[in-house]
Amino acid sequence: MRFHLVASLLAALAAVTTAIPTEQALEAWLKGPQGRKSPDHTSPRPSIHCHPKSPGRPPPFPQPRHKVCYVRSHNDGVTDDSTYILDALHSCNNGGHVVFSEGVRYFIGTALDLTFLKHIDLDIQGYVLFSNDTTYWQAHSFPFIFQNVTSFFKLGGDDVNIYGGGTLDGNGQVWYDLYAKNIYTLRPVLIGIDGLHNSIISNLVLRYSPEYYHFVANATNVIFDNINIAGASKSANVAKNTDGWDTYRSSDITIQNSVINNGDDCVSFKPNSTNILVQNLWCNGSHGISVGSLGQYVGEYDIVKNIYVYNVSMHNTTDGARIKVWPNSPTELSGDLQGGGGTGMVQNVTYDTMTIDNVDYAIEVDQCYGQSNLTLCLEFPSNLTITDIVFKNFQGRTSKKYQPEIGAFACSSGTVCNNIQATNINVLSPNGTNDAYCLNVDESALDVTCTSTYKGFN
Ligand SMILES: *[C@@H]1O[C@H](CO)[C@@H](O)[C@H](O)[C@H]1NC(C)=O
Ligand SMILES: *[C@@H]1O[C@H](CO)[C@@H](O)[C@H](O)[C@H]1NC(C)=O
Ligand SMILES: *[C@@H]1O[C@H](CO)[C@@H](O)[C@H](O)[C@H]1NC(C)=O
Ligand SMILES: *[C@@H]1O[C@H](CO)[C@@H](O)[C@H](O)[C@H]1NC(C)=O
Ligand SMILES: *[C@@H]1O[C@H](CO)[C@@H](O)[C@H](O)[C@H]1NC(C)=O
Ligand SMILES: *[C@@H]1O[C@H](CO)[C@@H](O)[C@H](O)[C@H]1NC(C)=O
Ligand SMILES: *[C@@H]1O[C@H](CO)[C@@H](O)[C@H](O)[C@H]1NC(C)=O
Ligand SMILES: *[C@@H]1O[C@H](CO)[C@@H](O)[C@H](O)[C@H]1NC(C)=O
Ligand SMILES: *[C@@H]1O[C@H](CO)[C@@H](O)[C@H](O)[C@H]1NC(C)=O
Ligand SMILES: *[C@@H]1O[C@H](CO)[C@@H](O)[C@H](O)[C@H]1NC(C)=O
Ligand SMILES: *[C@@H]1O[C@H](CO)[C@@H](O)[C@H](O)[C@H]1NC(C)=O
Repeated sequence: MRFHLVASLLAALAAVTTAIPTEQALEAWLKGPQGRKSPDHTSPRPSIHCHPKSPGRPPPFPQPRHKVCYVRSHNDGVTDDSTYILDALHSCNNGGHVVFSEGVRYFIGTALDLTFLKHIDLDIQGYVLFSNDTTYWQAHSFPFIFQNVTSFFKLGGDDVNIYGGGTLDGNGQVWYDLYAKNIYTLRPVLIGIDGLHNSIISNLVLRYSPEYYHFVANATNVIFDNINIAGASKSANVAKNTDGWDTYRSSDITIQNSVINNGDDCVSFKPNSTNILVQNLWCNGSHGISVGSLGQYVGEYDIVKNIYVYNVSMHNTTDGARIKVWPNSPTELSGDLQGGGGTGMVQNVTYDTMTIDNVDYAIEVDQCYGQSNLTLCLEFPSNLTITDIVFKNFQGRTSKKYQPEIGAFACSSGTVCNNIQATNINVLSPNGTNDAYCLNVDESALDVTCTSTYKGFN
């Protein structure tokens, strides 16, 4: 019980130090009022329930562990502790509990392949910092095929439980500054997952990721619970593409009970994301909960299917619920982001219960993503269909940005969009209107005032 309290104190403290630079946050945390407890103790494994909605598949039910390994550390914030980490993970794999001790700092300067994990608990109580050696990481981080994503470490395996209330700090500032100078900088994601199954990641504080916070690839039956994400740039160069979660080639994923302060999608469903439940999230400053972008690559068939997003509150974001699909003509959004011409389907996606607070567009369906020339988008309609989509029980106020509009439903043709419904949408723009741009959709199924002038565009 006492350790639970300590973990939540740490999480709370870390939550209020969001805007403080890394070193200060670390010092404050080390000297914090909670003091340093006994260095060697194990956290009880949190008992995670998926509620109010249940996923389609029962959550993992891990067995108890029978061995404990404490990770050693140089504890100086500059010497690489990777070997100690690998030693502990190998000795405790297949039935053990690995502790990153409370009050201890761990420094990682080596790309770690952690895809061998099996029947193991990672109890992260301490403060884990990744090195700022951008040259090393660009040469050694793990490539993930999709959109030039790479990661500091690659997490995979079966029956892996991660918790403990500790912090992973991506040392993002050098990356935000480097990316501002060169958009081809390969920025690692903080948590890179490739091939993880039947696992639960919970009770963690994630700070200053260079790019996305989680990239979840080739994963099945994984739950994320009580994750606290934040990390703004302290220079003029904003922390870009810091998505909370991106799922890819994954199914049966639950993301819930988390707080996200970031600068891109709060959660994003990339190609081949199926059976995903997202619930009870608080998102601030993001780009909303997004399907896509999809259809980016010619010759690929992208599927996003059976998604349920329930009870999310959106604050100061560009979008609430969003579906972005590239049209069938190649286009360039920026030097490092171009595409269009892919095929596939978005099917059975529900956004239920969303609080909108100072959001530019509460709802945005955009099948002309990346193509600002509407004539061209309509001339080459997307080859990726959008069907059986429900937006319901939305309430709140948008920002002034696109008023009188609160949303947009833009399909590139009537034949590639089907059954898009918006019901009980109690969202108004600041001057009291609920207009929405509607193009090639059944307007009678939309609880908004359809207009034909597109206010926003990408
Ligand atoms: C990188 O981190 C080291 C400590 O590991 C520090 O001495 C150095 O100033 C940092 N460099 C930058 C550019 O922040
Ligand atoms: C996922 O699995 C596929 C098929 O095994 C593999 O080719 C790919 O490299 C894996 N990783 C990612 C990020 O797709
Ligand atoms: C909705 O999510 C918020 C956290 O953002 C939580 O406090 C509230 O209890 C949730 N509501 C339901 C019905 O679960
Ligand atoms: C929301 O984000 C804004 C801008 O990033 C930040 O200033 C504000 O403190 C955040 N709100 C909370 C409650 O964290
Ligand atoms: C997605 O799934 C479809 C159908 O199985 C497959 O053709 C396609 O290659 C997959 N795409 C990716 C990116 O894995
Ligand atoms: C739609 O997706 C939900 C999960 O979000 C699932 O429960 C339901 O069975 C799916 N419907 C169909 C027709 O597949
Ligand atoms: C949204 O931004 C405004 C202005 O920056 C700020 O006053 C407000 O606290 C933010 N909302 C939240 C929930 O942080
Ligand atoms: C990936 O990086 C290469 C060069 O590093 C660049 O040419 C390409 O546009 C990038 N692709 C994406 C999708 O970012
Ligand atoms: C948009 O594309 C059409 C068709 O190719 C072209 O005639 C028009 O000039 C383009 N408009 C702009 C603003 O580029
Ligand atoms: C649409 O995609 C299908 C494959 O799914 C392909 O056969 C067809 O040629 C594509 N149509 C266009 C206009 O690109
Ligand atoms: C709301 O504001 C928009 C411009 O911001 C204006 O065009 C519109 O007429 C206003 N509507 C009302 C009802 O005041």
